[in-house]
Amino acid sequence: MSTLADRRFVLVTGKGGVGKTTVCAAEALAIAAAGKRVLVAMCNAKERLSVMLGSSPIGPEVTHVEKGVWAVNMRPENALEEYGVLVLHSRALYKALFGNRYVRSFLRAVPGMHEWAMLGKAWWHTTERLPDGSFKYDVVILDAPATGHGLDMLRVPKVMLDVVPPGLLRRDAERAWAMCQDRKTTAIVLVTLPEEMPTSETIELAAALRELGLPVSRVIVNGVLPPLFSSEEREAIARACPGEVASRGDAALVAGADRAVREQAQAESLARLSRALPVPPAFLPLLMEDAAKPEVIRRLAMRV
Ligand SMILES: Nc1ncnc2c1ncn2[C@@H]1O[C@H](COP(=O)(O)OP(=O)(O)OP(=O)(O)O)[C@@H](O)[C@H]1O
Ligand SMILES: [Mg+2]
Repeated sequence: MSTLADRRFVLVTGKGGVGKTTVCAAEALAIAAAGKRVLVAMCNAKERLSVMLGSSPIGPEVTHVEKGVWAVNMRPENALEEYGVLVLHSRALYKALFGNRYVRSFLRAVPGMHEWAMLGKAWWHTTERLPDGSFKYDVVILDAPATGHGLDMLRVPKVMLDVVPPGLLRRDAERAWAMCQDRKTTAIVLVTLPEEMPTSETIELAAALRELGLPVSRVIVNGVLPPLFSSEEREAIARACPGEVASRGDAALVAGADRAVREQAQAESLARLSRALPVPPAFLPLLMEDAAKPEVIRRLAMRV
């Protein structure tokens, strides 16, 4: 069972293209398999989750994807309006207030308003209830933007507390911020690859989040190669590798040496991550097939 199934809010971030959405998809299936209702909220994404889960395209309305799984692709403008309507309990009031150009220019001037619209909406989904009083979604997974933007987004509630005058918006920012900081309910998940640059970025991101009061709960290293060689073997292959390829044996040695170089870089990255991060990383294997397919995501879901 996913270690995140007992959280209410899961925020997934990491460098661009490292597999954040893949992890969100796999986690969603794992959490649903534990009998929970899960919503995956994407931030204005070029949406690929539907391909990964084999559903119809996912837009700005929450859609049911499969048993226990819902998804939404939030758009900042829509999210702001929807959120405004929710807070004010009236579209007419929203239009009267937000349609006012002074209010609009005030909102535009609030730093991170678009980020807040999406983070705030995702958080708000954690508070939604069914008529019987139970939570509509047991877990909301936010597929947050990549590193810098993800960090900006997570900074927003705190910024709001500094700049927004007391009122409804501020009250929600306070509640969202309190939830984000509560490790029992919220998990910050970083996804990375076992390579030098993503490793450095992940370590920096974890430090920046810690400074913000949002310690990382889980690190998933995606695309891990099963090691074929020990460190002694890696060195021996590097020494034996021919400069030129004159035979099939040479070709095999060159291929082996390439692999050994990658395994070495991977081992160094994993060692750095283990040293620098507050939690031991979890691993997902590098797949040699198109990973954006439901049957593959299902396999990954058994491993998250
Ligand atoms: N373990 C894996 N093995 C092989 N391919 C993978 C693996 N994980 C992800 N991929 C592929 O890598 C690509 C990027 O993955 P994904 O879209 O999940 O990344 P992302 O971090 O969400 O990207 P973005 O920053 O653009 O949102 C996709 O084509 C995905 O299918
Ligand atoms: Mg993505």
